[in-house]
Amino acid sequence: MTGPFSPHIPVAATLTAKRDLTSDTALFTLSAGRDAAGFLSTFVPGQFVQLSVPGGGEIPISPAEPPSAGMIRLCVRRVGHVTGLLHRLPAGSPLGIRGPFGRGFPVDEMAGHPVLLLAGGLGIAPLRSLISHLMAYREKFGEITLMYGAREPSVMLFRDELVELAGRGLIRLYLTVDFAPEDQVGGYSCARGLLPDLLEGFRFDAANSYAAVCGPPPLYRCLTADLEQAGVHPSRVLLSLERRMRCGIGRCCHCAIGQKLCCTDGPVFRLSELKDIPEAL
Ligand SMILES: Cc1cc2nc3c(=O)[nH]c(=O)nc-3n(C[C@H](O)[C@H](O)[C@H](O)COP(=O)(O)OP(=O)(O)OC[C@H]3O[C@@H](n4cnc5c(N)ncnc54)[C@H](O)[C@@H]3O)c2cc1C
Ligand code: FES
Repeated sequence: MTGPFSPHIPVAATLTAKRDLTSDTALFTLSAGRDAAGFLSTFVPGQFVQLSVPGGGEIPISPAEPPSAGMIRLCVRRVGHVTGLLHRLPAGSPLGIRGPFGRGFPVDEMAGHPVLLLAGGLGIAPLRSLISHLMAYREKFGEITLMYGAREPSVMLFRDELVELAGRGLIRLYLTVDFAPEDQVGGYSCARGLLPDLLEGFRFDAANSYAAVCGPPPLYRCLTADLEQAGVHPSRVLLSLERRMRCGIGRCCHCAIGQKLCCTDGPVFRLSELKDIPEAL
């Protein structure tokens, strides 16, 4: 941690904008002020912040893009108490932020390699900050492929911007939905099927690639087996895991995964680190 900020005390932030993406998911823009800019700029894609909603509590959220000038964007699905309160707040409401915390994606190590991104559902939100980083330093990375699966076209998040990146030749994009007829947008076909179906038979430089996976838990077991079988080394299979959190800084053990803590050892883990922890995936 740098600067005058304490990892224990939330920095005051203001909700400046909310953009609804689907009926239950929105992109929230928070301003934490210029004083927090240096602190937030230490963010590495894949890390999380503890967002406090007055009268509700604190929840861990992975920023959907790297914070800039004290401004932070969070893509949050309404699933329960705190997220429900957040979704009802008007612009101008006070919020709090602790962090960024945890271990993000090893972006320096990934430089020079092809990157395969696999996102299921809301998993695209944390991966979006990694995509932003990859785009900002595009020349440093090899081929970038994004496979993104959603339940149906109407809940596919950030589709237009992803299609735009693909249209500019910056990423290879494969979209799939569980349900819906074949659906065409911007020249990009949206297949029908599950995310592992996209990976099946996909030809890529597996031995040299990094794979970053983020999505609902059932997806991990299936995709990790497929990635290993394709030849991606387990130390290069990067998984963003979610556990319920309290302190966010390795003190309470609330987020334990075997001997590891999701908040400090993760939330991004290498598959090779999780091999002996059956409950991890
Ligand atoms: C590192 C990390 C990054 C995350 N990033 C995002 C993000 O970018 N966007 C987003 O919308 N959500 C994200 N989450 C999940 C988010 O923290 C939970 O949805 C939130 O804590 C739910 O709070 P609540 O009070 O609204 O729900 P509650 O009322 O506490 O619970 C409602 C439901 O949500 C489930 N739930 C609660 N907390 C979690 C959790 N931590 N992980 C999984 N399920 C949970 C409960 O089991 C229950 O089914 C992330 C979680 C972690 C650990
Ligand atoms: S949330 Fe307290 S140790 Fe991880």
